[in-house]
Amino acid sequence: MESFSGKLAVVTGGGSGMGRELVRQLAAQGCSVAACDWHAAAVARAAAAAQPDAPPGVLVTGHSCDVSEEEQVLRFRDELLEQHSAGHVDLVFSNAGIGGGASFVRGPREAWERTFAVDWWGVYYVARAFLPLLIASGDGVLVNTSSVDGFWATGGPGMPNTAYSAAKFAVKGFTEALIEDLRANAPQVRVAVVMPGHVGTDILANSRRAQGLPEPSEMSQAQLEELIPPGARTGLVRAGLLPADASVEDLRRTLTQMENDFRDKAPLRAAEAATIILDGVRSGSWRILVGKDASMLDAAVRAQPEAAYDYRTLFGAMAQRAREAAG
Ligand SMILES: NC(=O)c1ccc[n+]([C@@H]2O[C@H](COP(=O)([O-])OP(=O)(O)OC[C@H]3O[C@@H](n4cnc5c(N)ncnc54)[C@H](O)[C@@H]3O)[C@@H](O)[C@H]2O)c1
Repeated sequence: MESFSGKLAVVTGGGSGMGRELVRQLAAQGCSVAACDWHAAAVARAAAAAQPDAPPGVLVTGHSCDVSEEEQVLRFRDELLEQHSAGHVDLVFSNAGIGGGASFVRGPREAWERTFAVDWWGVYYVARAFLPLLIASGDGVLVNTSSVDGFWATGGPGMPNTAYSAAKFAVKGFTEALIEDLRANAPQVRVAVVMPGHVGTDILANSRRAQGLPEPSEMSQAQLEELIPPGARTGLVRAGLLPADASVEDLRRTLTQMENDFRDKAPLRAAEAATIILDGVRSGSWRILVGKDASMLDAAVRAQPEAAYDYRTLFGAMAQRAREAAG
């Protein structure tokens, strides 16, 4: 697929971050887009903002849909086919995702299952609903967003990330398994798995809201401790970002700061990430790493799989590679 012009793309989680940028860039490149989000107002705004930059004849629509509910995915499919007067779709970006369910050992079961439901079952239901329409395209591409947590199952020292990693490993495994299945049974469709490193978006705040948690200023001590576990707190104290005898107020301030810094101090912005994803899809790649951090981590884990969770060895090897690359 050398150009997106004249195609119809589906983007889940189109209301924010990389999804919103995919909607904007696809539309600007002449591709009609049907975007969904469980946050209906956000996706309506994203669709309306993308439309003016699109060439004549391109339609951008926003739809309300929680991808973890199969009936809602099927309703979204039927709604977009009607609004776009279409009998097939050419591209599906299964991008919607949330964080949460960090600790399997200590955390609430609901947060774990909510994260897994969105990040895994959402991708599964979307693939089920849209594969026949990609086959009907004659030249379809299914693009599933995993993460570096799809090949490295941790947030780093003291920061377990169990539900998210389990779901993102599943997305990566499913997508890779489809390569041969499609080659054998539906060669007019191909797949790609997207594995971003750190991209500056509102995913931390959006995930907190998706998990039903209030703004940091309203959070209880137990809720704060769930989001900033003891191991992470030790790291924050060491980095001078939190006093050793942190009060509840300190934790609230730090959480707000973490959400903002995640968005504002990332090595890559959402628009740059979307461009990398679209370039990867156009080039025919099935494996799209987004960001230098993702590429370095991927190389380090592949080089020494046994050291993946031995942070000193892993980070040491990454620093060594970075020095060599810098000459
Ligand atoms: N930002 C990063 O550093 C990063 C890194 C690796 C992977 N990812 C993955 O990239 C994808 C996009 O993340 P982002 O950073 O742009 O986040 P984001 O929060 O900015 O955007 C995600 C969008 O998905 C929507 N969404 C969440 N749950 C949904 C549901 N059940 N149904 C429909 N829509 C839903 C949200 O409302 C939001 O608009 C996610 O799958 C995420 O896991 C992000």
